[in-house]
Amino acid sequence: MDKLLITGGSILKGQVDIAGAKNSVLPLMAATLLTDEVVELSNIPHLQDVTYAIQLLSGFGVDVCLTERMTVKFQANDLTSVEASYAIVKSMRASILALGPLLAKQGEAKVALPGGCTIGARPVNIHLDGLRAMGADITVEDGFIHAKADRLKGTTFEMHPVTVTGTENLMMAAVLAEGEMVLKNAACEPEVVDLAEFLNAMGAQVSGAGTSEIRIQGVEKLHGVEYAVVADRIEAGTYMVAAAITGGCVRVNHVNVEHLQLITEKLIQAGAEVTVGSDWIEVDMQGRSPVPVNIETAPYPDFPTDMQAQFLALNAVANGDSTVIETVFENRFMHVPELLKMKADIQLDGRCATVKGVQNLVGATVSATDLRASACMVLAALVAKGDTLIEQVHHIDRGYERIEEKLGSLGATIKRLHA
Ligand code: EPU
Repeated sequence: MDKLLITGGSILKGQVDIAGAKNSVLPLMAATLLTDEVVELSNIPHLQDVTYAIQLLSGFGVDVCLTERMTVKFQANDLTSVEASYAIVKSMRASILALGPLLAKQGEAKVALPGGCTIGARPVNIHLDGLRAMGADITVEDGFIHAKADRLKGTTFEMHPVTVTGTENLMMAAVLAEGEMVLKNAACEPEVVDLAEFLNAMGAQVSGAGTSEIRIQGVEKLHGVEYAVVADRIEAGTYMVAAAITGGCVRVNHVNVEHLQLITEKLIQAGAEVTVGSDWIEVDMQGRSPVPVNIETAPYPDFPTDMQAQFLALNAVANGDSTVIETVFENRFMHVPELLKMKADIQLDGRCATVKGVQNLVGATVSATDLRASACMVLAALVAKGDTLIEQVHHIDRGYERIEEKLGSLGATIKRLHA
């Protein structure tokens, strides 16, 4: 497997174009199952998870055609299967997003049960309970979720805890259902809003996305559409932290600045000068070391769990102490033991990390244990003394396109070592 070799100490400077959001393109691709007509998605990020999603859809018989850079056409008018194997679900948990659309459109879906992963147990009980409440007959046997329904029926369903893909799955199931679906305690993430806008552009009737109550009036059918994926706020946030941790100045382009409001505020607290444009943000640290910032993750609009690991790296080299609390996933601190190898000073107690900033991290051989943990290792390596070798970088490729190219263009000394 590939590794990344990073020599710390470069001050990052320049501009970087942010790609379409991983956590938006995956539900959007699943939603292409809802119509017989051609759907064209642009601003598709070049990611391993997108390749997996193409494999998933191709396995159902969806016609997938790459038209030009970052644009893909999908047509799901002649499906040959409604089954997602364990092999594909194991590679990408988001394969569960096929469940709602397949059931709504084809009346049946068989999706391998996603197990837990390194960041937590991650059950899908809410997805299943919601579909059952809509009248689906669901069995879980031999490692497969098998769902059947003649036509789903809208109902009122409240989700606890808030779940992003759960909200998305039920929203996709409801667009073709009979009557009105009311989703209570719905996730408010920008990716949920992007999916609702996409579905509405296909002829669905979804209102309230971005609030905790989403209403979906079922329609008979959806039609084709051309649609551009929203910008990846987590990729953008990661490059903003890269500027802050190296004392540099980086402008992230093609972003939705509203989606980055809290991250921007935290970086201002950390000592950065931030300039916000219409679709760009510049983070200028002017050579300063970061001031520590306390973080507590929670569903949107609060601080995203997907940025926790990156801010932990920032706090590890800040002037002082901080606490980082993870409330969304029960085991999302796999990056801490790796940071300790680099001489960070962090005490872990359940869901709370107490960080004492150190003057220098030291290069080491470390492992990328999940996607955002790997972003944390890259950020730590950028400021560490000497060389850091990051193993298992296939995790990074799931969610950051051409990371060595993008960081290299900002002045980082980074090299991919091919297996
Ligand atoms: N949960 C349940 N039951 C369910 C569903 C969720 O108990 O049926 C719990 C989870 O175990 C977790 C909490 O609810 O403790 C929230 O999980 P959620 O369902 O919101 O997570 P997800 O939809 O599986 C998406 C993103 C994640 C991101 C989380 C939280 C996608 C494809 N994935 O996951 O992204 O961390 O929302 O914002 O959208 C990443 O990009 O690195 C990533 C992990």
